[in-house]
Amino acid sequence: MQKTLFPRVRPRRLRLNETIRDLVSETNINKSKLIQPLFVSDTLKQKEEIVTMPGQYLYSKYDVLSEIDELADLGINTIALFPNIESDLKDISGSEALKEDNFICSIVRQIKERFPKLVIITDVALDPYTSSGHDGIILDGKIDNDLTLEALSKMSINLASSGADILAPSDMMDGRIGKIRDSLEKNNHKDIILLSYAAKYASNFYGPFRDAVGSKQTEGISKKTYQMDSKNLKEAYKEILLDINEGADIVMVKPAMPYLDVINDLNQKTNVPIFAYQVSGEYSMLKMGIDKKIFDHNVVPETLISLFRAGSSSVITYFAKWTAENYDNIS
Ligand code: PBG
Repeated sequence: MQKTLFPRVRPRRLRLNETIRDLVSETNINKSKLIQPLFVSDTLKQKEEIVTMPGQYLYSKYDVLSEIDELADLGINTIALFPNIESDLKDISGSEALKEDNFICSIVRQIKERFPKLVIITDVALDPYTSSGHDGIILDGKIDNDLTLEALSKMSINLASSGADILAPSDMMDGRIGKIRDSLEKNNHKDIILLSYAAKYASNFYGPFRDAVGSKQTEGISKKTYQMDSKNLKEAYKEILLDINEGADIVMVKPAMPYLDVINDLNQKTNVPIFAYQVSGEYSMLKMGIDKKIFDHNVVPETLISLFRAGSSSVITYFAKWTAENYDNIS
C-alpha cells in the first residue's frame, strides 16, 4: 500500500526548513503555559543553591521578590510556592500548618501585595510541617486519612484568605477535594481554583524536592500507603473522576515524563484541563546531563513538547524561567 504512494507522497517536503516546519507543527511551547516552582525558607537571609538541584535556589523572603520580578519580566506569570520550615516548628501533626499567620501565609500576602496579577499556587499538604516528613497525621502507626482532612481544610482556608489563587492538594488523602471544596464554599471563597494532584505516583523522582523542602521521611511508613502505585493506569482514571466530582477544576499528573501514557489517557477521557508536573528528579537528571555535556540543552524543550503533545494543558517545571530566557521564538 505505502509503496504506491511514493513519490507522490513525500513527508520530507514538510520538513524542508524551519519556517515550513513551524507552519505545520502540531504542538508548541508557550511560556504562558509554564509554571515555575519556588522554594522559600523561613530562616535564610540570602538565597542558597539547592545542591541536588543545580541552578535552583532556596530563596529567602527577601530575594524571592526579585526573583518573581525577573519571572514577570520574562512573561512567567504563575508560580508554585513551597516553604522550607525550620525544624523547631515541626511536630508529629504538623500543627504549624494550621496557623493563620504562619510563614507561607505571610509570604503569600507579601507577594500578592507587590504582584497583584501574579497567579500563586500553593501546595496543600502537611509534609513541610510534620517531623515525620509525611503528608498526613500519624495515628497508631498509620497515616490517618480523616484526621488529616480536618487539617488540610483548615490550612486551605488560611491560604485562600492570604491571597493564594490556586490551591493544590498534593497529599493524596481520600476525600480531601470534597472536604476542602465544601469549606471553601462555606467560607465564601467561591473563586478559589482547586488543582488536584489527582494522579500522584509514589515516585523515586521526588528526592531533590525533599532536600529542598527538608521533608525527608523519618518514620517507617511508606508514602506508598497514600500515593499511587506506578504500575497502575486505570486507577489514575478512578482518582481523577473522584476529584472532579468532588470539585477539582484542574487535575495533575505527577511525575511527568515517565507517565506520558497517563497524561494521554486522562486527556482523552475527560473534559477538565490536565497539568503535568516535571518533578525535581526529572529536572536534576536533565540539568546534570546538560552541565556534564552529555547532551545539549535542547533536550529541555523536547521534554516539554512531549508533555504538551501527550495532552497537558500547562506544565509545572523548574525549567520555566530558563525556557523563557532561552527560547525567544516561543510566544
Ligand atoms: C509533597 C510534595 C512533593 C512534591 C510536591 N509536593 C513530594 C512528596 O510527595 O514527597 C514533589 C515535587 C518534586 O519532586 O519536584 N506534598
